[in-house]
Amino acid sequence: MNQRARLDPAPIPFIDVAAQRRRLGRSVDEAIARVLGHCQFILGPEVRTLEAALAAFCGARHVVSCASGTDALVMVLMAAGVGPGDAVICPSFTFTATAEVVALVGATPVFADVEEASFNLDPESLRAACATARALGLRPKAVIPVDLFGQPADYDRITPIAEAESLFALDDAAQAFGATYKNRRVGALAPATATSFFPAKPLGCYGDGGAVLTDDEELAGVLRSLRVHGEGSGKYDCVRIGLNGRLDTIQAAVLIEKLKIFPEEIVARERIARRYSAGLADVVSVPKLAPGSTSVWAQYTIRLADGRRDGLAAALKPQGIPTAIHYPVPLHRQEPYRRFPVAEGGAPVSERLAEEVISLPMHAYLDEATQDRIIEAVRRALRA
Ligand SMILES: Cc1ncc(COP(=O)(O)O)c(C=O)c1O
Repeated sequence: MNQRARLDPAPIPFIDVAAQRRRLGRSVDEAIARVLGHCQFILGPEVRTLEAALAAFCGARHVVSCASGTDALVMVLMAAGVGPGDAVICPSFTFTATAEVVALVGATPVFADVEEASFNLDPESLRAACATARALGLRPKAVIPVDLFGQPADYDRITPIAEAESLFALDDAAQAFGATYKNRRVGALAPATATSFFPAKPLGCYGDGGAVLTDDEELAGVLRSLRVHGEGSGKYDCVRIGLNGRLDTIQAAVLIEKLKIFPEEIVARERIARRYSAGLADVVSVPKLAPGSTSVWAQYTIRLADGRRDGLAAALKPQGIPTAIHYPVPLHRQEPYRRFPVAEGGAPVSERLAEEVISLPMHAYLDEATQDRIIEAVRRALRA
């Protein structure tokens, strides 16, 4: 490593959206200008173009874009008729939105634990959560496996349980669009997949955005109605209760351009993750990919036990190296969610991870000198 990289105190962005802007050049500006030219700001032609491009990319037959990843999740639950008396099994170690949407439709989130290696839903805890739900007089109706930090959950083990329990599986792939599981892309792993285009996501727009990916034509039709206030054959024909859940045309235009470079960005993310692991595996617990899975590395998250992760964050901060804790409190311990049930056996892995995880800067434009500076700083801090 060169000496300059070692001494450079310049702050490092956690995610460098500006570097991607430079790479995109004028293409995004021109795409936005085209929308400003035709003025079809709501469901303009770019929305359909984007949906077709996303479908071609992930192999799902239908893509219904929408206003956010949260709307994508909630619209699927609404379409599946999930409501009061229903239990929806969610991992506890995830972002709030996964369980929030369950409560929003009046159903009960039942929290399951995650697996130590992947941080994703533990199939055995899913089974236990169904039993817990039934014991409480709830109908187990759906499961929301989350593809946390960019790596798909273990669908070959989850799907048979979901089928045996008659659960509708909704993949929360807010962090994992573009990842693969046994040669299948995210979007084709569950009957419905929700993703997010929040700017910090691997494929992000310049505001809020999301999409549902599905092969189910009937579901896609209901989702298209739901995102426009439940409209039927015309604007003032209302056939169901819906919401205002459309993706803005300008955001679709941005995403069309970003999708063109996304495959290269995925390769860059994989390379950067491998470099991190090569530089850190001997000093800290680095993330593990399950055999047959790829990740889009929404986060590169290491683990440090015994309160050492807070010391690491404190040591890196003055060196201009940001870190983040995803997530410091498992959902079943968050105040609004404490009243909801946890699977028999509890969620000890989620609780432990919440105390041990720490994420390092991760994006497709992290150059080697900057990454070496981060790796060296982490190694120095852990030696201290
Ligand atoms: C796991 C997970 N689910 C759902 C969401 C919600 O996505 P959005 O912020 O686009 O509503 C996010 C994004 O933050 C997420 O990380």
